[in-house]
Amino acid sequence: MLRQPLLQMSKSARVRHLVETAPVTRAVVKRFVAGDSAADAVRASGALVGSGRLVTIDHLGEDTLDLTQARATREAYVTLLERLSDAGLTQDGQAEVSVKLSAVGQALEGDGEKIALEHAWDICQAASQAGTTVTLDMEDHTTTDSTLSVLRELRGDFPWVAAVLQAYLHRTEGDCRDLSGEGSRVRLCKGAYDEPESVAFGSRAEVDASYVRCAKVLMQGQGYPMLATHDPRLVDIGGALAARAGRTQGSYEFQMLYGIRPDEQQRLADQGEKMRVYVPYGDDWYGYFMRRLAERPANVVFFLRSLATKG
Ligand code: FDA
Repeated sequence: MLRQPLLQMSKSARVRHLVETAPVTRAVVKRFVAGDSAADAVRASGALVGSGRLVTIDHLGEDTLDLTQARATREAYVTLLERLSDAGLTQDGQAEVSVKLSAVGQALEGDGEKIALEHAWDICQAASQAGTTVTLDMEDHTTTDSTLSVLRELRGDFPWVAAVLQAYLHRTEGDCRDLSGEGSRVRLCKGAYDEPESVAFGSRAEVDASYVRCAKVLMQGQGYPMLATHDPRLVDIGGALAARAGRTQGSYEFQMLYGIRPDEQQRLADQGEKMRVYVPYGDDWYGYFMRRLAERPANVVFFLRSLATKG
């Protein structure tokens, strides 16, 4: 019930100001965000890798309409990749990066897609030099075709670039089929945006059923499926689908978000599964934070309670 209003608020400048300036917000944000700087991200990644988990790092920010900002985001990724490499964390792809195309220019009028492609290409080049990989995050459905088109271009030079597909979209089972070929890395998630019924399943049960169908397609394919979910039922089903498809541990991976179900992350890693944690950092955390609140009403209650006790 709270999901839709919260996702709408994630686009409101007024609510953004209120949330960003509330005295206790920082403390709550800290649960989901590794810190403001690249050094914070490298530190958090080092600890996760030390515990047997893998990471994918997101420099926070999205929907930029400013070319200078888009260029700065590209630079931030290039610098981050150098630092990760210097820290020995990019070896065997232990630490990779996740990029939102809207943060590197996709939403700019006119040439947005081309600019985003050029910036993403530079980031892929830096990742290649560091010996690791890049995943293109997926945003709302109006960007899906554009993001998949950029993915195809990038894969011409960097075949390891990963896509994200969202089980809540009607189209996704077909996209999974298209992207299940050899070497194709695909992260499957439920989907985090406020989407109309014309393109997306409305109920939790329908989204979960779609997730299972999509996971089955990916597991039976020749690619490298990455199951991004905290849902214990889907984690179990994902493992069973992998076994049924004759896959061994390491030929697929699980992924979860920084700060969410860390015990379960560790349990899976300790069982020998590849478990990658999505680690966001930076000061532009508002959109990301609101999506995390929208996913779980208990997070909103926790946030409001903190406001009431400290404010
Ligand atoms: P669901 O929301 O049903 O949650 C299952 C259980 O997990 C909950 O009962 C709770 O225990 C726990 N949980 C889930 N979310 C929580 C939260 N915020 N706080 C506390 N507990 C929580 N989306 C997208 O549209 N594009 C993308 O590129 C990505 N990328 C991405 C990467 C990775 C690694 C992950 C894990 C997720 C994404 N997502 C995403 C987000 C995804 O689409 C989805 O919104 C969230 O993962 C929540 O869905 P679950 O599958 O976890 O199930």
